[in-house]
Amino acid sequence: MFSTSTIDLGYRWLLKPYLFVMDPEAAHRLTLRLLAAAPPLPRRSSPPELAVKLWDIDFPNPVGLAAGMDKDAVAVQGWESLGFGFAEIGSVTPKPQPGNDPPRLWRLRDKKALINRLGFPSEGMDVVAERIERLRKRPLSIRLGVNFGPNKDTPPDAVAADYAALMEKFNGLADFVVINVSSPNTPGLRNWQSPEKMREIFAAIRQPDGGDRKPVPILVKIAPDLERNDMFRICEIALDLGLDGIVAANSTIARRAVGVTSSHEGGLSGPPLKIRARELIRDIFLHTRGRIPIIGVGGISSAEDAWLDIRAGASLVELYTGLIYEGPALIDKINSGLLDLLRRGKFRSISEAVGIDR
Ligand code: FNR
Repeated sequence: MFSTSTIDLGYRWLLKPYLFVMDPEAAHRLTLRLLAAAPPLPRRSSPPELAVKLWDIDFPNPVGLAAGMDKDAVAVQGWESLGFGFAEIGSVTPKPQPGNDPPRLWRLRDKKALINRLGFPSEGMDVVAERIERLRKRPLSIRLGVNFGPNKDTPPDAVAADYAALMEKFNGLADFVVINVSSPNTPGLRNWQSPEKMREIFAAIRQPDGGDRKPVPILVKIAPDLERNDMFRICEIALDLGLDGIVAANSTIARRAVGVTSSHEGGLSGPPLKIRARELIRDIFLHTRGRIPIIGVGGISSAEDAWLDIRAGASLVELYTGLIYEGPALIDKINSGLLDLLRRGKFRSISEAVGIDR
């Protein structure tokens, strides 16, 4: 079996220099193809201290793949091999759509950041659901979330119906679902973060009580660019609607405020987002008094980053951009670093550390 340091050296010295001279989207497609084609690596199981039980689901460790990297669930076996505890597939749209015209993805190498305006390219829910159904024929070692986005040509008064169709399709296939109302690249989408609009979505997707199907946990993913008061209103509505969690946060439209000067349009991700995302996690944790689990995401590229998000209030963490710059060994590094930090702090589990820096 390959060790973490062999994978690290292989990525840094062989694959990354090659990928980084390619167009970023071509590099992304090649990475997915390589991961999808690679034979499964025999995996060590995660140490029990890293296991997280949330919504009655057992996560082997708290480190997940953020939405956007594997929009169509083509490389799930690869994410398992890399040691993720879970992966968020999507955003998936009801009908297939190509997304925005290229160019639509840029690297900001000096900041180890990305800017994207992909606009939800998706093979559509039927194809992705079928793929997940096939994957489910064998036991998966990671948990799968599915992130929902509306189609670009859906009229504003039918957006809630798009989420409802996605819910219908993935109920029973996803371990949890994420209502994405925060991508900056679908015009008008962020307006759905208002309490009235959120009520409309949740009235449309509410699952019927009873039956033998376990209700799937429903989370909402929010933008890091929300005004503080709007964020508090979202927390209140989330409590009121009985939502199962909040994913904080999506990519940002901020530039100067996070030390970036690029003029490319779209969502900025990676280290410039880190402090803002952590503030948001802490604010949500404080405002909800820890009653709503938070998945922390934004700029994580080390065990220390993940640890500080957990201490700020995140029950689980996710990353995307860090994986591009630091490579696939990052997942094992974060998990082993978290284990060290837990042991040094005399915590018996990740859950014990959630929100202790509030
Ligand atoms: C994303 N992200 C994203 N989020 C989402 O909810 N649906 C999506 O389809 C996408 N697509 C997407 C594409 C690309 C190229 C990137 C870089 C990001 C946002 C992502 O899930 C995450 O919230 C942010 O990228 C912040 O985390 P990182 O990248 O700083 O770890």
